[in-house]
Amino acid sequence: MKTLKVELGERSYPIHIGEGSIRILPDLLKEFSFSPKAALVSNPTVFNLYGETVMKGLEDAGLKVELILIPDGEEYKDFLWAYHILSRMLRAGLDRKSCLFALGGGVIGDIAGFSASTYMRGISYVQIPTTLLSQVDSSVGGKTGVNHPIGKNMIGTFYQPRLVLIDPSTLRTLPEREFLAGMAEVVKYGVIRDSSFFDYLRKRYEEILNLNMDGLEYIIENSCRIKADVVSEDEREAGLRAILNYGHTIGHAIETATSYRRYLHGEAVSIGMVAEARIAVLLGLMKEEAAAEIENLLQRYGLPVRTERDLSPDSIIPHLSMDKKAVSGVVKYVLPERIGEVKIHSDIPEEVLRSALSAVMES
Ligand code: NAD
Ligand code: GLY
Repeated sequence: MKTLKVELGERSYPIHIGEGSIRILPDLLKEFSFSPKAALVSNPTVFNLYGETVMKGLEDAGLKVELILIPDGEEYKDFLWAYHILSRMLRAGLDRKSCLFALGGGVIGDIAGFSASTYMRGISYVQIPTTLLSQVDSSVGGKTGVNHPIGKNMIGTFYQPRLVLIDPSTLRTLPEREFLAGMAEVVKYGVIRDSSFFDYLRKRYEEILNLNMDGLEYIIENSCRIKADVVSEDEREAGLRAILNYGHTIGHAIETATSYRRYLHGEAVSIGMVAEARIAVLLGLMKEEAAAEIENLLQRYGLPVRTERDLSPDSIIPHLSMDKKAVSGVVKYVLPERIGEVKIHSDIPEEVLRSALSAVMES
């Protein structure tokens, strides 16, 4: 098993990564002195697959666990379901030294983390992510939250977990489309910070697509290492952390323009990465060949690199200024300069933006 650390002073925490690691949960909990009353948040899909193992581990660690299941789906990541989780915890008598365990993908991790951050002004929580996206991105870094009808993730906190436990073998049951969507975030790490990781992803795509466990452990470890480094330097996104949003400014606008129904987040980010690489080429910041390499790698992982015909620059542009990262209406873009290096830009000329968006639209 590999262990990384997110360095944040007294709020530092480990990320354990290893095939079969959910079975060693009781050992990992020995160093904590949580109250015996705990809660596990999951959904029926994930709980039916891994719930029994995790419940047994928690009970073996001496915890009495309140099981809180919420329905499966992004639409349940809202304030009312967070309220439901908090109510269940209150009724079960969890106290300030209790721990909340999140078993599932990013939806479960985000709402459970948000609930933990507000329960009695904040209690401990542990992330046990089971999708590729949550293993390489959402479970690390402490962004928690719920959606509001006005926008996704509009209500939330920065609140770090005490421990992240990643078992890549859970990916064997993940639908392929969800797995590939997670690969978009993995490719993103190569582009923003690590060209040799990008090369690895290029050379080893067959192993990864075949869910070779060594390959998966390696890509999860590298992705978490990059994310942990960035978060350790800039926990609250005062500067550097924004580089994690490469592909996300345009990706989010595509998701909004299609009412979050057509593309999974990673699929929209994939198209966003291609479009933002195109902006970099048009501005003379990056060579054409590097943009082509990014696009080819995303395609190799079965990700979309073009939107469907019904979208146009005019259907995307109004949604860009709604981005949560926009400050005083100024939209920020993370643009690659070469593979492994990006910089944050604003004030992209409208004709450049239109041309880059047209380039990712089927004609
Ligand atoms: P998800 O949580 O909806 O999971 C996708 C689907 O896979 C669900 O149906 C789930 O039940 C199922 N599933 C999960 N694990 C499984 C497994 N091992 N086997 C079979 N099925 C499994 O989606 P996601 O992509 O993991 O997360 C998306 C969420 O993450 C969004 O709400 C997004 O806003 C959030 N997010 C948060 C951050 C952050 O930093 N906090 C970063 C990125 C995304
Ligand atoms: N997913 C981007 C971040 O955690 O900052």
